[in-house]
Amino acid sequence: MKKHDVQTIITALGGRAQLQALLSVGASAVSNYLARDELPQRAVGPVCAALRARGFTVDPTCLEIIGQRVPAAASVPLDNPHMAGNRQIANGATGSALLDTHRSSGTGQARVLLIVGGGIAAYKALGVARRLQDHDIAVTGVMTRSASEFVTPLSLAALTGQKAYTDLFSLTDEAEMGHIQLARQTDLVLVVPATANLMARTANGLADDLATTILLATTAPVMMAPAMNQAMWGHPATQENHAVLVARGIDMIGPDDGGMACGEEGTGRLSPTDGIVDAVVAKLAGRHKALAGHHAIVTSGPTIEPIDSVRFIANRSSGKQGHAIAAALAARGAKVTLVSGPVSLPHPPHVTHVAVESAREMMDACMAALPADIAICAAAVADWHVAGDTSGKLKKDHAGPPRIELVENPDILASLSAHKKRPQLVIGFAAESENLQANAAAKRARKGCDWILANAVTRADGSSVFDSDSNGALLLAGNSCEDWPQMPKIALAERLADRIEAHFG
Ligand SMILES: Cc1cc2nc3c(=O)[nH]c(=O)nc-3n(C[C@H](O)[C@H](O)[C@H](O)COP(=O)(O)O)c2cc1C
Repeated sequence: MKKHDVQTIITALGGRAQLQALLSVGASAVSNYLARDELPQRAVGPVCAALRARGFTVDPTCLEIIGQRVPAAASVPLDNPHMAGNRQIANGATGSALLDTHRSSGTGQARVLLIVGGGIAAYKALGVARRLQDHDIAVTGVMTRSASEFVTPLSLAALTGQKAYTDLFSLTDEAEMGHIQLARQTDLVLVVPATANLMARTANGLADDLATTILLATTAPVMMAPAMNQAMWGHPATQENHAVLVARGIDMIGPDDGGMACGEEGTGRLSPTDGIVDAVVAKLAGRHKALAGHHAIVTSGPTIEPIDSVRFIANRSSGKQGHAIAAALAARGAKVTLVSGPVSLPHPPHVTHVAVESAREMMDACMAALPADIAICAAAVADWHVAGDTSGKLKKDHAGPPRIELVENPDILASLSAHKKRPQLVIGFAAESENLQANAAAKRARKGCDWILANAVTRADGSSVFDSDSNGALLLAGNSCEDWPQMPKIALAERLADRIEAHFG
């Protein structure tokens, strides 16, 4: 993350105490942030959301404040973040105008209303709230009374940077944000966990608390992630309620099979956080299809080159960056062919996944996927493979270790760049250990690609970019060289997708 001005952020939030509450840290942690003049990576989501709730326009990649919608928003107390919106309403705008203003501000930020039900998996909703914000989605939390037996509204508020709403009849809530406004001022309503009780109440049209009233009043799409004991899930009452909700157009995410908190086995586990977040992102993507009609080939992960039938040469690539790019392009409507070496990641939704192992297989899969408009070579492709026949297992014998002869692999990036069906935009990655810019520029010229994203294999703090969740890079495009600071790989993927969108726009 680019160095930002921590003092400016604290002032904008309304003081040190507000930052403490937001990040659930003590005063000494805030002193450390000030001394280092840097916030931890995990602060990005909540701080970004809190600043936005106060009317600031914020660059989510580095927390730089680049504008202010409401004058003097810094003086708004954090426990009342919607005051910023109310001021605008007091100045003559309506609640829905507030949403429009937000959209037309150019952030395009999607909004999810997260309803937390009263089940043992309620704590997982906090992780979902956090991960959604990694996708630049603003989250507002609503909890049922039972949910607050499992997690506190304060935890949800701290993670979302917004007040967590609990009470239908709270005068304060109604004055700040009426229940109908809550139901309407969102792009999607997500229920995590959807308990048997909450599903039953929704299926029967009850509106006996804030959560069910919102579910009845909303015109936004609704998604539910059920979680309950397997007998509760299998009960005909729950199954009928489930069928009713699906028939009414509610998207169900899970539940999954497996062990339960109660020790039983069966269907009823909450879907993994990633699965829930991916489903929401895919659903929201329907509203933003700028790359529709474009085909992108994205390579991702490592290749593995057999030495014999049991041993191989590989590298430490996790595929996180390539998969995030594939997801970002698919979310913008591109048809994506993801050619991936072996990784332990789930495939992003709405991509055609081609699983390969060796560089030669990856090459064949890329060529077979042509024609395409965009090619992004993010995979860590082995430069060499083992010569000769690699079938059978090499035996240890008295003649000493075997000689392994290496042969150069085909160059996928150069081949795509020189192909007669060359994609209009070919982007390569360069992982360099030294002279980042010069080596990347030389690689771009050598390979004939249009842009190159160069990242340092080892970062300033000694950590490796491989398997990390964050990345920073130099983008060499045309005559320019942009320095993209460390940011979550998902954010870097979105930034690249923005640039690609602008290129084709
Ligand atoms: C310790 C404990 C764990 C529970 N876990 C679940 C659960 O995972 N799923 C569920 O449907 N109900 C569960 N329940 C029952 C719900 O809490 C209860 O039905 C409640 O009324 C649901 O409230 P809601 O309308 O906010 O969802 C649990 C109850 C207790 C005491």
